[in-house]
Amino acid sequence: MNSIHVPIWDLVLCLSNATDLVTHQVSDHHKRVAYIASEIAAAMGLPQDTRNRVTMAGALHDVGALSLSQRLDTLHFETKQTTEHSVAGALLLGSFSPFEELASLVRHHHAQWIDRDSRFRSREASPPTESYLLHLADRISVLLPDQGQVLVQVPHICRKIREQSGHMFEPGMVQAFLELARRESFWFDLTSRGMDILLSDRMRRRSLRLDLRMLEQFGRLVGYVVDFRSPFTAMHSSGVAATAEAVSTLFGFDEDRRRRIGLAGSLHDIGKLAVASEVVEKPAGLNRSEQSAMRGHSFHTHQVLEAVRGFEEINQWAALHHERLDGSGYPFHFTKRELPLGSRIMAVADVFTALTEKRPYREGLTPDRVQSHLHKMARNAVLDEDVVLALDRHVDDLNHIREAAQTEAALTYKNFRARLNEAVATS
Ligand SMILES: [Fe+2]
Ligand SMILES: [Fe+2]
Ligand SMILES: [Fe+2]
Repeated sequence: MNSIHVPIWDLVLCLSNATDLVTHQVSDHHKRVAYIASEIAAAMGLPQDTRNRVTMAGALHDVGALSLSQRLDTLHFETKQTTEHSVAGALLLGSFSPFEELASLVRHHHAQWIDRDSRFRSREASPPTESYLLHLADRISVLLPDQGQVLVQVPHICRKIREQSGHMFEPGMVQAFLELARRESFWFDLTSRGMDILLSDRMRRRSLRLDLRMLEQFGRLVGYVVDFRSPFTAMHSSGVAATAEAVSTLFGFDEDRRRRIGLAGSLHDIGKLAVASEVVEKPAGLNRSEQSAMRGHSFHTHQVLEAVRGFEEINQWAALHHERLDGSGYPFHFTKRELPLGSRIMAVADVFTALTEKRPYREGLTPDRVQSHLHKMARNAVLDEDVVLALDRHVDDLNHIREAAQTEAALTYKNFRARLNEAVATS
């Protein structure tokens, strides 16, 4: 068995939820845009395929807006700060083959209908029609009130959208939206807690065979996303992934399980997207609120991965890396009995990488010193002794593997950023 069966929507949700960790202010925005685009597509009688595509693109359209200020910028109705995050989003999605078809929609999700002939003709292909639908859904979403009765706002929203018919938006789409807007149920669904479930019920039917190559592509995509926010975390995760993979072979993991633990390593700190990078990179002396934010990261990892059916084991391996054998870890306080071998390997790989890698505030420790730290942690029932002993016997090799993986990751991320800068400059 060299592949996992995964609903493609679950991977969309996983990435969408992960990027939403960056700021709660926009946390419903992705799903609302997905829902609005899906409903307008249905009202227009567009084919099911198109409807699926705009829903997925809606849930991911701001994936490229990873700095907080960029995300908040996208929430103004007539924002001009559009190119960079659209280009970044398209490049990100294009790097994972199942999301490739969404890239051009996201690339043009701020394209104005009135510019359809002039702006793009000379340099690049015209935006796909679905982009205009995404644009409309996006702007409806930013007009929704933060709180209070949504119906009170509806006339205002409809007026703003109608005013832009034929200018910002395609008139047929505006018409379909205005019809839809007459239904109270549309607005109540859109602003209710159940909207998530509604979307998932609709979208989970299409699933995907995720082979090992795609698993790795997905890991890399997440790496790119994390790298925008905290290059240090992205690099660290590459080291943990390579170390965990190498250690798992010492315990007889076959290629399939080894690559999965590699993916778990790439994902283990994805929850750090919820923590400000200044806090992630702070050497010591975290105050209480910073400490509790940090303590939340592995729980967030767990929540983000929980969205993916088929990732149950990967989630356990990834999210339990701060649990300790004696039950004093976090967030679940599991003990050795409840911690699968893959999670115990991950915990050791995490500490090993953290100690050997160069940190923003200090050089890496020598393998000797790292070994003595690991032994102490094994004696204190923090880490698994068998895993520590296995690592011990190959410490120099493992350190090379870890270092090589991090050097390669640094290059990969650097190239991606260069491609992005170039794409932004030429767009
Ligand atoms: Fe948006
Ligand atoms: Fe962690
Ligand atoms: Fe970590």
